[in-house]
Amino acid sequence: MGSLQWGGRFASAPDAALLTFGSSLEADLALAPYDVRCSRGHVAALESGGIIGASQARALREALDHVADEIADGSFATWARAGNFEDVHGAIDARVRDYAGKAGELLHAGRSRNDQVATTLLLFAREAAAEGARHAIDVAALCEDRASDALAQQTLLAATTHWQPAQPVLLAFWLDALAQGFARAAARLAGVARDAARFCPLGSAALAGSSLPLDRVAAARELGFDAPSRNALDAVGDRDVALDLLHAITRAVLAASRASEELVLWTTPAFAYVRLDDAASTGSSLMPQKRNPDPFELVRAHGAKLIGAYAGALASVNGIALSYHRDLQETKAQVLAGVVDGLAALDAFRRALAHVHFRGDVMTARAGEGYTVATDLADAVILAGSTAREAHRAVGERVLRAEEERRPLGAEDAAALGVPQAPVDPLGSVLGKKTAGSTHPDAVAASIAATRDALAVLSESLP
Ligand code: ARG
Repeated sequence: MGSLQWGGRFASAPDAALLTFGSSLEADLALAPYDVRCSRGHVAALESGGIIGASQARALREALDHVADEIADGSFATWARAGNFEDVHGAIDARVRDYAGKAGELLHAGRSRNDQVATTLLLFAREAAAEGARHAIDVAALCEDRASDALAQQTLLAATTHWQPAQPVLLAFWLDALAQGFARAAARLAGVARDAARFCPLGSAALAGSSLPLDRVAAARELGFDAPSRNALDAVGDRDVALDLLHAITRAVLAASRASEELVLWTTPAFAYVRLDDAASTGSSLMPQKRNPDPFELVRAHGAKLIGAYAGALASVNGIALSYHRDLQETKAQVLAGVVDGLAALDAFRRALAHVHFRGDVMTARAGEGYTVATDLADAVILAGSTAREAHRAVGERVLRAEEERRPLGAEDAAALGVPQAPVDPLGSVLGKKTAGSTHPDAVAASIAATRDALAVLSESLP
């Protein structure tokens, strides 16, 4: 069976090295099951449009079943690699011809790889987005479970801005904050899964539609799309959903990357906020004492990798004219590789987070370091009638004095500021918070509950 899907108008064979350069087979083998589904959709369009008869349709469907089995047991990949194919789409078409004989030559009637690739990529994106959403939901749920535990312990933390001590918060508040980023990414991924099921490009053919009476509605229905796409010229070159998928996965990985940065620092003796189980740590080949938090460092780096994949995918689409151009083969490869990397990073982050032990005693004991209650004192001064500027200056002066005297802020400072009832301890600071969404334990408990509800609804909505 010839590996090329064209050649009649060519007088000589292609340069072998250029053919190899142009092959995306290895990258897009991951799309094989989706291409088989796409091909089933095209059989529906051909049969329902009266272009092929029932027996030809049956022969094609049986051949596609064979190929699906070979994909599942791994033998298709071995067969395809031996064949010099430009892409997985051509390889599957060839394998169908092996099995279906003459009827196999009708599978590509009215179809171009242009509408085939666009449709296959959407079928892939629908499942990958749902899987990404499930990964992000799982991480968010773990964050909330750990937040519940930390809430019960009332573990405190000196939250930072610019890495400088800022204000005392509950560790549960930090964990619930992490959950929010993953929950948002999960919601976006669920939206991408939905978008991937709207318009079916199949039947757009190369770019102008087909002169064959393909039943595009039948194809769309067979493949679970809402409707056929509206404009063939747009449909064959549209990669918006694939780009959105990569963007949404990148966002989930960035949430993991930012948390990883903090956790890496927290494992250092200088912080000593966290002990990481041996199961998630790595040793040094030279320094016998070392225990390194490698999974979090690698997750951090995966954020960079995903940004690269996303930027690369965007760049491959930039500036190319409407319809299909071969550049889009590279978009496909970037998206596939990025999705695999992103899912792996989310899974690794969830596993490593489960191995984190927060040293609540250390965190709580240090939550007041760096004058983290100063803002609460200033708020109390404002409530006692001062302007914000006056309060800021007065408390700043007390901080300066305390620093010179090498002591924390205390009752004497509150008294000197005329607010003897004001909290000067981290727990008092946290319990004094009044706003919704604050670090007050009731607000954190409400956020955990609301987030868990939202995650359950999202999980139910996934295809
Ligand atoms: N190999 C290409 C890809 O996977 C498909 C080529 C489609 N069309 C074309 N005229 N070369 O994206």
